[in-house]
Amino acid sequence: MAPFSSVFLGVWGVFVVILIKESTPVSWEEWWTYDGISGPAFWGLINPEWWLCNKGRRQSPVNLEPTQLLFDPNLQPLHLDKHRINGVLANTGHSVVFAVENDTRHPVNISGGPLSYRYQFHEIHLHFGADDRIGSEHTVDGHAFPAELQIFGFNSQLYNNFSDALHKAQGIVAVSLLLQLGDLSNPELRTFTQQLDKIKYGGERFDNVTNSGVTVRRGGVAINLAKTII
Ligand SMILES: *[C@@H]1O[C@H](CO)[C@@H](O)[C@H](O)[C@H]1NC(C)=O
Ligand SMILES: *[C@@H]1O[C@H](CO)[C@@H](O)[C@H](O)[C@H]1NC(C)=O
Ligand SMILES: *[C@@H]1O[C@H](CO)[C@@H](O)[C@H](O)[C@H]1NC(C)=O
Ligand SMILES: *[C@@H]1O[C@H](CO)[C@@H](O)[C@H](O)[C@H]1NC(C)=O
Repeated sequence: MAPFSSVFLGVWGVFVVILIKESTPVSWEEWWTYDGISGPAFWGLINPEWWLCNKGRRQSPVNLEPTQLLFDPNLQPLHLDKHRINGVLANTGHSVVFAVENDTRHPVNISGGPLSYRYQFHEIHLHFGADDRIGSEHTVDGHAFPAELQIFGFNSQLYNNFSDALHKAQGIVAVSLLLQLGDLSNPELRTFTQQLDKIKYGGERFDNVTNSGVTVRRGGVAINLAKTII
């Protein structure tokens, strides 16, 4: 079987080269995936700028190992402001992203928990799979969840905005919520899912979304949130 596999690989390689030449310009930003030859194991190889993905020891996606975790009795609940906020829902080709309006006057703040600073909510990424068993980006003990909601904020005490904070110390916070399937649909999550048919294809965006809040209940190893609404 070995010669057959190398023939197959050769043909595949040519195919990729042709694709790159035909559809210029191709951004590296669009070339990564979560599986196969452009999946996490290869991120550090497909773009030299991402070398850390191969050499780094604290790389995302993270597999949380419950047996390695230490209980922190002093950990306080994470606090998220609970008012409505407007933004844009977009299909980036990799995930669904809700980004807060640029000129929002009442930012949603994230503080408490393990955080030493106040962070300003900037965007939410929603990850899900074609199959409910493999939607989350991160895993617990090797198990993926049907979906994952990631809440990103920037340190508004040290920096002016998200892009300013992106590569700085203590710049960004990411809160990850691992979602499970339930019998009742979650009304806040539905704010997003209701609009998904408007952004079926990568690059599409929908401008008039008011996120009335995502309710998170305590539970799961990764999440140490009391009932939190943004
Ligand atoms: C905010 O501004 C940036 C750059 O000007 C733009 O790329 C982004 O789409 C804007 N965000 C929203 C939610 O409109
Ligand atoms: C959120 O933080 C900003 C400063 O970044 C502050 O002006 C605002 O009052 C805070 N919002 C709430 C609801 O506390
Ligand atoms: C973000 O802050 C930096 C530093 O103050 C500034 O140069 C930049 O224009 C700001 N970007 C946006 C999108 O407001
Ligand atoms: C946004 O949608 C609401 C109803 O959901 C509508 O009343 C409002 O006019 C819309 N705003 C814009 C700018 O389209």
